[in-house]
Amino acid sequence: MVTAKTKINIIIGDPVEHSISPQLHNLAYQHHKLDKDFIYLACRVKKTQLKQAIAGAKALGINGITCTIPHKVNVIKYLDKIDKTAKQIGAVNTILNKNGKLIGYNTDWYGIEAPLKKRITLKDKTAAVLGAGGAARAVCYALAKNKIKITVFNRTLEKAKQLASDFKAEYKSINEKHLLKSYDIVINATPVGMYPNIKDSLLTPKDIAKDQIIFDIVYTPYETQLLKNAKKAGAKIIYGFEMLLYQAILQFKIYTNQTPDEDFLRTQLYKLLKIK
Ligand code: ATR
Repeated sequence: MVTAKTKINIIIGDPVEHSISPQLHNLAYQHHKLDKDFIYLACRVKKTQLKQAIAGAKALGINGITCTIPHKVNVIKYLDKIDKTAKQIGAVNTILNKNGKLIGYNTDWYGIEAPLKKRITLKDKTAAVLGAGGAARAVCYALAKNKIKITVFNRTLEKAKQLASDFKAEYKSINEKHLLKSYDIVINATPVGMYPNIKDSLLTPKDIAKDQIIFDIVYTPYETQLLKNAKKAGAKIIYGFEMLLYQAILQFKIYTNQTPDEDFLRTQLYKLLKIK
């Protein structure tokens, strides 16, 4: 039951109506008997209203503010403190109100690290990152943190160069796909293959080796064409769903100071995304 003491968490974005975060977190609050302590809501906030929204949330004592498109980078300038990880990634998706001060965190990198760590020892492995945008930055952070040798492959070479220099990585053009088979891990951090362009894939089965891990951060559809091709090549695959799950787990911890039941969240997320 919601009371006058219930702490409010919100997700802000534009659009935000499609977000499953409120359902997922509220179900987890119920499951952990935290639903009198926390509630999670969504607010559509236009890009031009971000400053006012953050000031308002602070004045209202909102406990947590999740940022999604288009606010993850712009929000930084309105916060009191940015933790080291979020600073290095250059984006904030989770804000905690600690005694009236807004502190920015990023949980996306954990969505990359946790699923990889479940499958292999990361130290001294090599990884190819496809893409050099915001998502690729969180991917590179997670890999660099674990001492993985990174090569960024991107369509625009200049962007690959910039990202690579920030994370002591190498960089190459995405046209050099023939090199990809030699990496232990290949992560797609581009939107290629995302709904509605579900037939697209940066790699064919021929570009993939059977002892590789192929991780696609795209999660709509659940099984992208890239992952289908990786299966055909006999590679191990990691669904984008995993990234979504683990970034939510870390966010739940930041907002509530408690560790959520991973299996419960996994099951609920499956249901919410209508994955069979
Ligand atoms: P996000 O914040 O989600 O990472 P972004 O910053 O727009 O989004 O970055 C998207 C990345 O996917 C970019 O690296 C982009 O390549 P460019 O830097 O050349 O634009 C890459 N990308 C998008 N569509 C692509 C396509 N059809 N083929 C190859 N790369 C693509």
